[in-house]
Amino acid sequence: MQTLDNEIAEKILSKKIEKAEAMRIFDGLSESDKLELISKIKSKLMDTSGGATSSKRLKPLDQRDLEDSHRSFIEKLTESYEKFVYKSKQNIPKNHYHFVDQRRNFHLIKELKQMHFQVTYEKADGAYIHDIDGNKYIDISGDMGVNIFGHKPTFMVDAVKAALDRGIPLTGYSETIHNVTKLISELTGHDRVLFTQSGTEAVVVATRMARAATNRKKIVLFDGAYHGLSDVVMVMRGMQGESLAAGPGMLQEFADQIIVLKYGDKESLDIIEAQADEIAGVLVEPVQSRHIYNKPVKFLNELRNLTIEKDIPLIFDEMITGFRVTPKGAQGVFNITPDISTYGKIPGGGLPTGLVAGSKKYMDLIDGGTWEFEDDSMPKSKRVGMGGTHSQNPLKIAASYATMSEIKRRMEVSKNCNYFSNDCECLYCKLNIKTMRMVEELNQFFIENNLPITIDIFGSLFRFRFVDSYWGITEALMFLLMRMNGVETNIQGNCFLTTAHNQEDIRNIIDAVKKSLKTLIKENFFYEAKIEPQIESVPVAMPKPVVKTAPKNEVNIGNSQLQQLKDLLLRDLKKISQ
Ligand SMILES: Cc1ncc(COP(=O)(O)O)c(C=O)c1O
Repeated sequence: MQTLDNEIAEKILSKKIEKAEAMRIFDGLSESDKLELISKIKSKLMDTSGGATSSKRLKPLDQRDLEDSHRSFIEKLTESYEKFVYKSKQNIPKNHYHFVDQRRNFHLIKELKQMHFQVTYEKADGAYIHDIDGNKYIDISGDMGVNIFGHKPTFMVDAVKAALDRGIPLTGYSETIHNVTKLISELTGHDRVLFTQSGTEAVVVATRMARAATNRKKIVLFDGAYHGLSDVVMVMRGMQGESLAAGPGMLQEFADQIIVLKYGDKESLDIIEAQADEIAGVLVEPVQSRHIYNKPVKFLNELRNLTIEKDIPLIFDEMITGFRVTPKGAQGVFNITPDISTYGKIPGGGLPTGLVAGSKKYMDLIDGGTWEFEDDSMPKSKRVGMGGTHSQNPLKIAASYATMSEIKRRMEVSKNCNYFSNDCECLYCKLNIKTMRMVEELNQFFIENNLPITIDIFGSLFRFRFVDSYWGITEALMFLLMRMNGVETNIQGNCFLTTAHNQEDIRNIIDAVKKSLKTLIKENFFYEAKIEPQIESVPVAMPKPVVKTAPKNEVNIGNSQLQQLKDLLLRDLKKISQ
């Protein structure tokens, strides 16, 4: 069966192939890929300026464009919100001095400051979160990707309680750790498995292994990916393609050892080929959770071939996608096996963990490889530094074993399984299809209402994307309203369904999204934008290329002058660019 990659989608969209050929390719796709392609086409049509959909497409209001009516809506909303989560808000001034949390100021918009605080949770069960004000939300935050079976599944609670009863000795081995590593190998197809304390640590260890294996220095990673907190990989791509330390306190010396390339771009493969002698490893988030729409399968296949040819270890960071889409993660969908994989989140069963799994050749770098009691064998491989007081903490090992066993159990019912089939009862088919149906309905709603929003999806991971704006006041309000309408998301943007979400929950999620957006439409937080003339390569910042429709009863005196001024500016800019 053909897999969907961006190139096929692009060819179909750009009509570079005949309709009959397009249909042949389409028919060869799996059901899931067909649906995905349809939503890609729809979102592409929204993206393309000048297309029928795009000419009608609304724009989300930005905080700089607020008018009195919007401010008065925000004022009223603030009042009701403060009542709605009263105790949670009271908690902030009482406690924020002692409790440091970087996420507190994430996406903070001054105009919504009064509503910008994290809710205090009281408990979580199944698909729901309860806060201290007595509100119950359907949780689609997925605990940042950790949660796949809903909160507090009995099998997990029992396993952790039983582990607690046995005490939590940190040195020595347990039967559970032997069982779980074997099981993870079975589920992922990787030879050997290492537990770390976090995903960040797993990535650090994986890059260290790659450097040790090759005696080379540089690590390639791709723009748009996130690989955890460490200085080793928190590196950005600058305007000229240079590598830059990602923020204060991070040393440029670390960034200098990283090559940040464009993801999915053929030129990146050429660069890797040209600099292969220096490259210790290529680190990829195969489907970047912040750019889910980009699934460059062909690129990944070529990257796999190239790294084999050049003997460069390929590392897939499947922290979010691992055990989420298939047991192996994206590699299970794309049929590409990296040398090393990093996992985390789901295999911790709700407790903190990271995993490094991979071929014996590389994993032996941790413990030197196996040796036997009966003969004179000794560890053969050199060893990299590795430790971690809580790497094998029995509580998380128990939670991990419970989760992995449940995944295995729910995969045993699979038949004709490609992880996205309608007639398979396995965990992933059911969860992936359930999510896809929900996303389909919502994407349809966005199109019908000319909303500049689309939801990108990969298995049960999905993300709302405002098509041509990034985190303005309208988007922030949508998430606040969704909370007031009973759906809890995560400010960081990734959303997830779990096996605990039933059809009624999904109906309620859809209704909450629609209701929240209808409110924003009614309150004029979306407006019609004029299509501006296109200018190529303008070397200075463009004036804001939108003209709002005049609010009712207001004479639109300034607009024609404004337009003339803009035209003038645009002509000037065009001259500069020539
Ligand atoms: C792809 C990826 N890699 C690494 C990490 C870091 O994992 P952790 O937060 O457990 O350190 C994350 C966290 O979200 C991630 O998404």
